[in-house]
Amino acid sequence: MKLNKLLLIALTISGLSKLNAQTVSIIPEPFQMTTRAGLFTLPKSIAINAPSTANAIVDEMANKLRTVTGKTVYFTKNKPAIDLQIINDANLGTEGYTLDINEKGIQIKANGNAGLFFAWQTVQQLLPAAIYGKTLQNTTNWQVPFVNILDKPRFGWRGMMLDVSRHFFTKGEVLTFIDDMARYKYNRFHWHLTDDQGWRIEIKSLPKLTSVGAWRAERKGKWMNITTPPIDEPKTYGGFYTQEDIKEVVAYAKARFIEVIPEVDVPGHSMAMNTAYPFLSTTPDYPFQVNAGDEFMDWEGINGHVAARIDNSLDPSNEKVYEYLDKVFTEIAPLFPFEYIHMGGDENAKNNWEKSPNVQAFMKREGLKNITEVQSYFVRRMQKIINSKGKKMMGWDEILEGGLDGDAAVMSWRGVKGGIEAAKQNHKVVMSPNDYNYIDFYQGEITAEGKVYRGLRMKTTYSYEPVPDGIDPTLILGNQANQWSEQLFDLRYAQYMTWPRGLAVAETSWSPKEKKNWNSFTKKVEQQFEKLDAANVRYARSMYDPIVTTQLNSKGELIVNMEGEIEGLDIYYTMNDQMPDNYSSKCTGPFVLPEDVLSLRIISYRDGKQIGKYLNIPMEALKKRAVKVL
Ligand code: ACM
Repeated sequence: MKLNKLLLIALTISGLSKLNAQTVSIIPEPFQMTTRAGLFTLPKSIAINAPSTANAIVDEMANKLRTVTGKTVYFTKNKPAIDLQIINDANLGTEGYTLDINEKGIQIKANGNAGLFFAWQTVQQLLPAAIYGKTLQNTTNWQVPFVNILDKPRFGWRGMMLDVSRHFFTKGEVLTFIDDMARYKYNRFHWHLTDDQGWRIEIKSLPKLTSVGAWRAERKGKWMNITTPPIDEPKTYGGFYTQEDIKEVVAYAKARFIEVIPEVDVPGHSMAMNTAYPFLSTTPDYPFQVNAGDEFMDWEGINGHVAARIDNSLDPSNEKVYEYLDKVFTEIAPLFPFEYIHMGGDENAKNNWEKSPNVQAFMKREGLKNITEVQSYFVRRMQKIINSKGKKMMGWDEILEGGLDGDAAVMSWRGVKGGIEAAKQNHKVVMSPNDYNYIDFYQGEITAEGKVYRGLRMKTTYSYEPVPDGIDPTLILGNQANQWSEQLFDLRYAQYMTWPRGLAVAETSWSPKEKKNWNSFTKKVEQQFEKLDAANVRYARSMYDPIVTTQLNSKGELIVNMEGEIEGLDIYYTMNDQMPDNYSSKCTGPFVLPEDVLSLRIISYRDGKQIGKYLNIPMEALKKRAVKVL
């Protein structure tokens, strides 16, 4: 009898802690965490104790709690409900923390403010989703589950890039983007500030970069399918950040323990600079205008290199180019306290260099044997300039071509091979391979998403392992997601493309490799959806839509297969132009699509409720994606 009672108590406790474990949904997954039954309820009047050095974080915490819960907050050392302490524990590093939530309240310890800040992000994830609101919320159960967490990041570089050239995002929108990053413990904001479609940073000594280079003709539609504007069409779309704006953004990011890396993308991607100062190109007489999204590159290329029909590269033989870029970096360096400046270096079309008599003469003069050596010469000059401003240079993996010197770091984007090669040459590397981390690629069924040139499901993003086999892990600074904005016309859509894949990259960047698990991650993502709703952040629900693949068999029949990206989905379809529901045919494996079918209409359910969006895939699209003959 006694034994039975004990067993019952034990079962109840383990049941409760299981319940807690289910409701505890932290992304990125902490380094170590144990949960136990019980909840701490925030009192009506919340006492906080914290060192004065943490004032900025504690003010933010207190304001949030006051505004959203309606409770009072006061400061005392006597029995605080929330206790923040700075300690000295080498095991936690600069960003780690411990978080204990028990009957006494919430206790946070860290070596410095970064750890306290990240712990506060975790506490918010443990509170009801309403904590992410901006006004008083109608929630009364301000409770947090009992947990015991020791947390610290796997990588020191947990980056996200935003391209503000292809589409311009206001300063306020950039701050929102940074807020969204901070929730998930990102700590590097890579700001792609210049490209063919707009120069976005004020350079006082070169005013035309923004008075001319920041503006283009306004176009809607699909990028690179856009009609070329007449040269005299008013240039009404664009914008730029003043140096005061930049300082504000950098300080805002710093307060959230995010360093900002500016990127000035040269020598290619420079149409905006060439429009401002045409004599910096090898075609100085060309009537340049800032590109409006119309196609001007031949991506298939000539001689293995991409080719530009309109010269979007700087002239490497012209000393003025180096003089102007020296001015640019002279003004940029003091605005960004972080140690790296990114100089781009990607996708430089060399066809205009090859045609240029000046570049040919320059190659003879400098003893440069081929055009790759010219690019390498340019990169080395950039590195000298950037180093002379007290900064280290970073660039896309093309900067390896022709050899790379010293402490330059490489950002691997064309898959992982550039990162591997760079590490073999002892360069520091940030991994941002397009195959996994390009979160501008469409994320669900193509016929139901905005068109971008490639797709990338979150499951693939989540599967990424940033340290390649056989590579010294200390050379891998970290992992980064890139958000290019060709097809992002506004911030809401930028958020839709960023989340939830940004959660996958956050977990890969922070959590121990062995803690990653796709099925439990997707369950956590669903709880984050509630938090993102409360924070008014748009996100995609594409993970509820099936992955639809086709193959042609040897009889020429089209075989369709549909699989859930996440577990637990039931997929239904029709082939006769009827809207499907959960009484339609259920997909249980590959099937033949009869010849006369016009389109496949699909819907996914979970537990008897519709959860995916309605898909309608035309036969033509299904034929086009057929991969191989069986
Ligand atoms: C890149 O995506 N061109 C770096």
